[in-house]
Amino acid sequence: MVSIHPIDTRSVREVLDAGQSLPAEWYTTPEYLERERKEVFTRSWQYAGHVDQIPEAGDFFTFQAGHLPLVVVRDAKGGINAFVNVCRHRGHAVVLGQCGNQKAFQCHYHAWTYRLNGELAAAPRSDREPGFDKSSLSMIPLNVDTWGPLIFVNPDTTSAPLADSLGPLPELLDSWGYDLWSYRFRKEMHLEVPSNWKVYIENAIECYHCPTAHPSFSDRVDVDPDTYELKASGHLISHISRLKQERNGRIPARPVPDARPGYNFFYIWPNMMLEINENMFNIRRIYPQDPHRTNRFAHTYFDRSLTEAEILEVEAEMAADPTLGEDMVLVERVQNALRSGMLPHAQLLMDSEFLLHHVQELVYRTLSGEPTLGLETPRSGQSYLAVD
Ligand code: FES
Repeated sequence: MVSIHPIDTRSVREVLDAGQSLPAEWYTTPEYLERERKEVFTRSWQYAGHVDQIPEAGDFFTFQAGHLPLVVVRDAKGGINAFVNVCRHRGHAVVLGQCGNQKAFQCHYHAWTYRLNGELAAAPRSDREPGFDKSSLSMIPLNVDTWGPLIFVNPDTTSAPLADSLGPLPELLDSWGYDLWSYRFRKEMHLEVPSNWKVYIENAIECYHCPTAHPSFSDRVDVDPDTYELKASGHLISHISRLKQERNGRIPARPVPDARPGYNFFYIWPNMMLEINENMFNIRRIYPQDPHRTNRFAHTYFDRSLTEAEILEVEAEMAADPTLGEDMVLVERVQNALRSGMLPHAQLLMDSEFLLHHVQELVYRTLSGEPTLGLETPRSGQSYLAVD
């Protein structure tokens, strides 16, 4: 096919510096997705769950972090361990089921048995193998860290601490009087998004489209660019604004400190989003399914003081909110445009969409082997400390 576009000889670096988007093929081809799986998703902090899921020794839960099957377990000493849920023998899943309690993990294929700290305890007939070294065949460990009650794992055991990725976020929420321990897990919801994972993220982190595409959201939240505050620093991005309507008006929420913004949204590189208010917080994590589809998992947590009737009322409000459905239509249309090959690069408005530029820098630098912690892009904005 003859291209109707002049051949673009610019490097990706030059394209980004010109305020344009990553090339369309980065959103549409399996080759780039494989690179992202290896360099982005296998080397970053991933929200896993809540400590309430594993209160006792032997309690575990499994989850699929995109291409990675993982298990998180409370060990006999009370510590939290996480492993790749793959047997060191021939690769069968070691732990079956979503959650439960085990004294040890026994693989269902040939009965290799692992302790809760991942050590290989027994392998049938291994005594017939000269030099068989159990100590070198532990389950593959992950880095584990927590933010309050939230558990995070990182397949890259040489990674920087979770706190480096969260940046000022914990301190910021503390300053607004939020305590993550005061919320209880409610449920997980799954949605298949009809776009590349980056298209989904890029849509989520700009509100330039809100006045046009989200009339209901814009009736509720002040989306005026002079009020709606965007910030980016390192692995953290935020949207902060005021509410135009009272949230959950009939819910007797706890007193809200004056300094606390009515609407806040945070994105933590590469695939976690958080919204929090006095009634609930909501964590979304996304994983690419293929270049054109993304799995989105939302975990909702409600303040422990809310009654069941109040929770149902908030959930009914959320279910009636058209914003998510509107976004699904938008991202599918953008993905179709990228697939067409007729839009080699998108043109960003750097005043309104500089957060997209920031995330694309994170993608580009990660795939180029450059550091990303502490990244400040030209429009990153004021320090987060200015919010205090
Ligand atoms: Fe697990 Fe063989 S694959 S024991």
